[in-house]
Amino acid sequence: MKLHGTMEIKDGQLEIGHIAVKQLAKQFGTPLYIFDEAEFINQSQKFLNSFDSDKFETKVYYAGKTFSNLYIFGLVQKLGLSLDVVSEGELYTALRAGVDTNNIILHGNNKLKRELEMTLDYKIGRIVIDHPVEYHLLSKMCSERQQKTKVLLRINPGIVADTHKYIKTSTEDSKFGMNSADPSTYKLLQEIAKDPYIDLVGVHCHIGSQVLNKKFFFEEAEAMLQFLYNLKKDYNINLTELNLGGGFGVYYTSEDHPFDLEEFLQDYIKVIENKITEYDLQVEKVSIEPGRALINDSGSLLYQIGAVKYPYQGNPYIFVDGGMTDNIRPALYQAKYEACLPEKMNNETAASFKVAGKCCESGDILIEKVDLPMPERDDLLLIPASGAYTFSMSSNYNRLPKPAVVFVNERQAKLAVKREDYADLIRNDLKYKEEDN
Ligand SMILES: Cc1ncc(COP(=O)(O)O)c(C=O)c1O
Repeated sequence: MKLHGTMEIKDGQLEIGHIAVKQLAKQFGTPLYIFDEAEFINQSQKFLNSFDSDKFETKVYYAGKTFSNLYIFGLVQKLGLSLDVVSEGELYTALRAGVDTNNIILHGNNKLKRELEMTLDYKIGRIVIDHPVEYHLLSKMCSERQQKTKVLLRINPGIVADTHKYIKTSTEDSKFGMNSADPSTYKLLQEIAKDPYIDLVGVHCHIGSQVLNKKFFFEEAEAMLQFLYNLKKDYNINLTELNLGGGFGVYYTSEDHPFDLEEFLQDYIKVIENKITEYDLQVEKVSIEPGRALINDSGSLLYQIGAVKYPYQGNPYIFVDGGMTDNIRPALYQAKYEACLPEKMNNETAASFKVAGKCCESGDILIEKVDLPMPERDDLLLIPASGAYTFSMSSNYNRLPKPAVVFVNERQAKLAVKREDYADLIRNDLKYKEEDN
């Protein structure tokens, strides 16, 4: 298993942030989301320092959907990252965490009227319009409120990045954005550009997630700058902002070979600068929205093993005390992970195992095949590189309380989200009363 961030092995024990994982299990219980704060800070600084230009302003938005709570949004604000949100819940969390409203951008293919209202009430920095109906609704709201707002239009440039079909977002039939080849896209842009209450500042795109071949990002930037040039040349619309989304692939298992981030970001900036000069564009701000590339490496999921079971055929199962409730990704899109036994780091590999959760679903398999030392009941099992789209996609299926989230850094462990208890599970339930029926 690859060691990520501050992970170290001392006397056969795995440590994160210089704390033995065994100690974290004792203090906070399992299942447990563990975040390596130093690793998150390190990744953030890589993005902020390498995605930088003296020709235009740059912004790095943390994609809030990957992992959202007050603690991480507060850290995002402190580090100088901006924040991309997709719902009123994420926006509410951002506001309560004290994120500067100017640094927030709102996405979504079906924003609710009350989400747009909240965005206008708090004068959120940017709204990314997805389609004409949404534009007309926002335009009406802004004119009624006599309030101007800055928007970008989401464009689908037709770059189909090589990734899982559930995380491809730029196919011709994509549910996101307006296609760059579609004449109605230009019609809409002309309409928005004339709107007195909508300040059309730029365009946005996101070609998909877990993209491991950097050529797609270069193609994306070139296609979007060509699009801005066409707008200028054919429609006299001069936009000043370009948001190129996220999607930068990460290491989950040895099958993934992510590109060197710093080298890529510096080359990316050069390509963008050169195209802006070539097309004589007035672009003043270029943004990106990394999600998993910022947070995934720093997060791990820690479980306790309940049993090793030998089925009639196939690899033995390791049963853990959580499952698809705290990480739906393997069941949702066959995501793969590595694992280790944090108290047996120096033990020899014994066999290949299947790691299964405790939910009543045959599909509740966290890892199809992983080589591990011999586990026993009560041993710990850790799944590294699982910070993104795990806690944020968690559920209470089978009425399992959601695990706690803890941040570790320099021998200190800080609780960021409390473990749910049984009372949390029935908090919104109303009792059946015979007299009402
Ligand atoms: C608009 C937008 N920006 C950023 C992201 C972050 O993607 P990733 O986590 O792959 O970087 C997504 C993911 O779906 C997205 O839809």
